Amino acid sequence: MISRRDFTKILGAGAILGGIGGLYAISNMGFPRVTYDYSEFDPRNPANFSRPLRLPKSSGVFGVIDSPSTLEMNVVGDSVEVLGAAPTNIWAYKTDAGGETYINPTIRLKKGENFSPTLVNELQKETIIHWHGLHLDWKNDGHPVYAADPGERYDYNFTIPNRAGTYWYHPHPMGLTAQQVYGGLAGFFIVDDEEEEALSRSLNLELGTTDIPIVLQDRRFNQQNQLVYNPNHMEQSMGFLGDTILANLTPNPYLDVDTRVYRFRILNGSNARIYRLAFVKDNQKFPFSLIGTDGGLLERSFKMSEVFVGPGERIDILVDMTELLPGDTVFLKNLGFASTGMMGNMGRGMNGGGMMGGGMMGDMMSGSSLDDGEEFFILKLVVKNKVDYDAQIPEEPSKIECLDLSNAKSRRITLSGSMIGGMGMMGWSINGYSYDLYSYPIQVNRDNSEIWEIYNVGMGHMGMPHPMHIHGFSFQVLGRMGSPTQVRRYAIDDNGRLPTDSGWKDTVLVWPGEKVAIAIDFSHKYPDEQIYLFHCHNLEHHDGGMMVNYKVI
Ligand code: C2O
Ligand code: CU
Ligand code: CU
Repeated sequence: MISRRDFTKILGAGAILGGIGGLYAISNMGFPRVTYDYSEFDPRNPANFSRPLRLPKSSGVFGVIDSPSTLEMNVVGDSVEVLGAAPTNIWAYKTDAGGETYINPTIRLKKGENFSPTLVNELQKETIIHWHGLHLDWKNDGHPVYAADPGERYDYNFTIPNRAGTYWYHPHPMGLTAQQVYGGLAGFFIVDDEEEEALSRSLNLELGTTDIPIVLQDRRFNQQNQLVYNPNHMEQSMGFLGDTILANLTPNPYLDVDTRVYRFRILNGSNARIYRLAFVKDNQKFPFSLIGTDGGLLERSFKMSEVFVGPGERIDILVDMTELLPGDTVFLKNLGFASTGMMGNMGRGMNGGGMMGGGMMGDMMSGSSLDDGEEFFILKLVVKNKVDYDAQIPEEPSKIECLDLSNAKSRRITLSGSMIGGMGMMGWSINGYSYDLYSYPIQVNRDNSEIWEIYNVGMGHMGMPHPMHIHGFSFQVLGRMGSPTQVRRYAIDDNGRLPTDSGWKDTVLVWPGEKVAIAIDFSHKYPDEQIYLFHCHNLEHHDGGMMVNYKVI
């Protein structure tokens, strides 16, 4: 059997993120699909979890910057230690604040504070920062028409309009988003308000030690520890999966914990991978409490044992470890699930069936040996100290007002796929549109509420789940119809809503065959017409055109 190191060597050629300021060479060629040994980074092997989880500290990678009024966000080629001795070249948001240097800083501001960052583009391609989840005017939103050319700057200036929540920022240039995010550009944007501060106080939480943002990203590396991004035709259609799972840019991490409550704000920052997350202790599910979603705290917390998180989505959870003993371990893992769409079904069928493992057919499906829906471990929690802790997880973390939909207009949104060109290429569209920078297929009236019925018509091999994301506003999920069994079983009401549908959202996973109704209130304070995006957050779908502009008039 070929080792993983050899495997990555095969993938390496021409597909490496270059040196400082470098670029990917994107190859569309297929590469042989090979299974690798249980190498030191194989996330299926729990014995591999031996690297300390990278935490947001007061500087460095993901370091927390509190209430900055300005920041120069330099988009640069840099390198960080990810796998080991040889550092990995990445693209990064680099900034200085208070005499410290930060890479992809965790930016924390309070609702109502003003923030005027400047993007300085030191890449050789255009880029723009999008503040995912924030309700900004379109000049500040990071729409691709405002992308800054190499060497240029882009000035933002906005007042934080959002309630407290776990938001994030990432690039959004036309057709280049997938590779720039994959190359490393992504950071947390945490908004606080009084309610949030009261919750943190009552649970004695502290950002970076007991309140831990975790971004999940799957990546492929070559033998020199460099990122590989070389989607073949199939992966351009379906999405690019990695075989190394990173939590805060740490492969196979562990975290030492005390016997108390921890908060994890988990962001799925992967290009295409969906996670079905669970905590497991001694092969038993270990419950957690969902207290928040994309747009902040919930009206009631849900004690649950597993949850789907699609690309772009966030979950805010509390894990009560007060009853554990020093020496206990709990794993955060990805449970197996029925993968949907060609990538998973066909790839899995062929390899799982043992008929054609590897070889020609496999290479068309996916170069990743970690399939969509495959089971693996993500993070090992190791209990160290017994401590006194008696705060209780709140049953009603916040209040959420239901939108008034008495005059709401309904709109149908259809997600579909069609074969384009030769075998294996699939194009995805929204109401039949593929993205055009200068057309505005959807117009909404400001101050009006609308109900969007998002219907994912794809079934079987023509279907994939699509994490649908809107810019400029948050929404409420009203219901789900036609959900696959593996989703429906989590429903909390007759409308088929899931626990994660009970809070404010900006991204919602729409499964094949599903119809998801969302309500959006298009009121905002920005004068003039505003142009925003509605798109799939599977970033290969995104760059492939599964996106529309919508105009607020
Ligand atoms: Cu996080 Cu338009 O994206
Ligand atoms: Cu966004
Ligand atoms: Cu999609």
